[in-house]
Amino acid sequence: MNFKGQHILSTAQFDKEGLLEIFEEAKKMEKVLQDGGSDVLSGKILATLFFEPSTRTRFSFESAMNRLGGRVLSNADMAATSSLKKNESLEDTVKTVSKMVDVIAIRHPESYSVEKTSNFSNVPVINAGDGSNQHPTQALLDVYTIWKEKGSIDGLTVGMIGDLKNGRVPHSQCDLLKHFDVKFVFVAPDALKMPDEIVKELKSVGKEVVEGENLSELIEEMDVIGMTRVQKERFESEEEYLKYEGIYVLDAKIMDKAKKDAIIVHPLPRVDEVSVELDSDPRAKYFDQVGNGVVVRMALLKKVLGY
Ligand code: NCD
Repeated sequence: MNFKGQHILSTAQFDKEGLLEIFEEAKKMEKVLQDGGSDVLSGKILATLFFEPSTRTRFSFESAMNRLGGRVLSNADMAATSSLKKNESLEDTVKTVSKMVDVIAIRHPESYSVEKTSNFSNVPVINAGDGSNQHPTQALLDVYTIWKEKGSIDGLTVGMIGDLKNGRVPHSQCDLLKHFDVKFVFVAPDALKMPDEIVKELKSVGKEVVEGENLSELIEEMDVIGMTRVQKERFESEEEYLKYEGIYVLDAKIMDKAKKDAIIVHPLPRVDEVSVELDSDPRAKYFDQVGNGVVVRMALLKKVLGY
C-alpha cells in the first residue's frame, strides 16, 4: 500500500499487505522507543482536533509524534474553544488548520464527518474516531496486540462483546480481521447487535460468524475476548441506556470458563464491563494495548508523511 500523503479514514482502506507493513514498522518503532526515540519527523507538525472526550487516543498520537521528533498543535475541546463557536464551518476550520501543519488527527461525534472534511485538507487527515462509524487507529493497535501476543492471527476465534451496534472499534476491527482466517463470535443483546451489513460482508468473504447473547457460554471457544463499553453517549435517552448498563461484566468467575491462553482486549475506557480483579490476570492485555497504540501511531505517522 502507498501511505504517503494519504488520508486514513477507515479500516476498509487496508489490505492484508498494508496491515502487515504497518505491524512490521510498529515492531521497529518498539526498538526506536527503547533506544530513546528518533528525530525522523523533526520539522513536521501534527494537529490534533478533538470534538469528543479522549485520554488515550489524543495523547497517543501526540506521544507518537513527539517520540519521532515532530511537534504538536493540540486542541482537546474544539467545540468549546475554536472558531466553530463563532459558527465557522468544520470544512473551513480543517482547511485553515491544514495550511499550518503536515498532518491532522480528528475526532468528531458525527459518522463520516472526518471523511467529508478531509476533502478540504491539503495534508493527510487521520480519523481518530467518527461517531459510531470507525476508529481505524484503535483497530490497528488492537489487531497489532493480537498479532504480537498470539504470534499469528490465522486460526483464531475472536469474540466481540458489548455494544456492537454503536461501538466504532468493533466495526473497524472487523474490516481488518476479515483478511485472516478468523472465526467471529459476537455477543450482544438484540438491540445492540453488530450491524447487518458488517455481518453480511464478513460472510460474503467466507467468514464464520456466530451471534448470541450468552457470554458465559460463548466465552469458552474464544482465543481473543474483545470487550467494549456500552456507548452511553450514542443513546437517545438516559432511560434507554440504563436498560443495557452493566449487561456484561467480565469477572474472575466467567474467566474460569475461558481458555487458559485466551487474551482480553479492550480499547478502554472501561466502565464496569471488565472487573478490576482481572487486571492482574496474565490474560488481561488492555493496558499493554496503550503502549502498542503509541508504536502503531508512530508507524502510521511515519508512513503517511513519507518516511
Ligand atoms: C474508544 C473510542 O473512543 O471509540 N476509546 C478509545 O479510543 N480508546 C472506545 C470507547 O470509547 O468505548
